[in-house]
Amino acid sequence: MAKTQNSAAGGKPAAETIEPILNVDGVTLQYKTKEHLITATYRVGFDVFPADRFVLLGPSGCGKSTLLKGIAGYMKPVEGAIRLKGREISDPGPDRVMVFQEFDQLLPWKTVKQNITFALRNGKKTDNAAEADDIAMEYINKVKLTGFADTYPHMLSGGMKQRVAIARGMAMEPDVLLMDEPFAALDALTRLQMQKELLQLWEDTHFTVLFVTHSIEEALIVGSRILVLSPHPGQVKAELNAHHLNHDNVGQKGFADVQQRIHDMLFADRILEDEIQAADRA
Ligand SMILES: Nc1ncnc2c1ncn2[C@@H]1O[C@H](COP(=O)(O)OP(=O)(O)OP(=O)(O)O)[C@@H](O)[C@H]1O
Ligand SMILES: [Mg+2]
Repeated sequence: MAKTQNSAAGGKPAAETIEPILNVDGVTLQYKTKEHLITATYRVGFDVFPADRFVLLGPSGCGKSTLLKGIAGYMKPVEGAIRLKGREISDPGPDRVMVFQEFDQLLPWKTVKQNITFALRNGKKTDNAAEADDIAMEYINKVKLTGFADTYPHMLSGGMKQRVAIARGMAMEPDVLLMDEPFAALDALTRLQMQKELLQLWEDTHFTVLFVTHSIEEALIVGSRILVLSPHPGQVKAELNAHHLNHDNVGQKGFADVQQRIHDMLFADRILEDEIQAADRA
């Protein structure tokens, strides 16, 4: 659904209508195994607009990664549709790039720069080696790894590897950058640092990002909009605005209130789930 935005300059209202980049419309995703049919998400719907930092937040197993797989084009919905710039997604493509949680998502036999140039050439961004080098260096600089361009992944820390993965994703200039718990495997301090750097990168280029986490705090810090999903199978519980919250508000009342509200929302489901499981066992 399109949204209308008033002119920031004031004066006449309703200046322009913005179309979503990504439209997830009543999407049910299932896995079929020999014995089971597992419904991972049930009729999930949301719109991601240009320059959104859109967060999918929900407990483990609620289908966040599955939704990203659907958006990336690796899985087809059994119900509903996923559209990128109005066109239904049918396959993976360089217009949607994924950054994962794991540190081993880089090619170990290629240097930092080569990891990025390889993606650029493979994704048909450019077939000119010098241009690919320039683009790679631009993004390596952005993630503060200038001195490590010719280093191999095994010589980097986890945080540095994630920076390379982010640089590679951004260098592809996708319509939407998909990030699946990219900082979850990092220590608390590095995680904080990476959240700040991601926000700084966003200030620079205003890219559109779909970010998955199960940390309420991280969702509020990183996200401008948050979709709260219920436990398995994932359904939309609420959509919240978090534009006004960042690191500076952590611990303050406004931040803590929203954090508590989301916690209660998720916890209420947990209790219900526990009761159902207990009843099943009885
Ligand atoms: N390849 C698969 N085959 C069968 N079932 C799967 C597969 N991958 C995920 N599932 C199931 O689908 C549901 C959603 O899984 P998913 O990985 O999307 O959850 P998630 O929200 O990303 O969880 P987490 O926060 O732990 O990463 C779970 O019940 C899971 O067991
Ligand atoms: Mg996951």
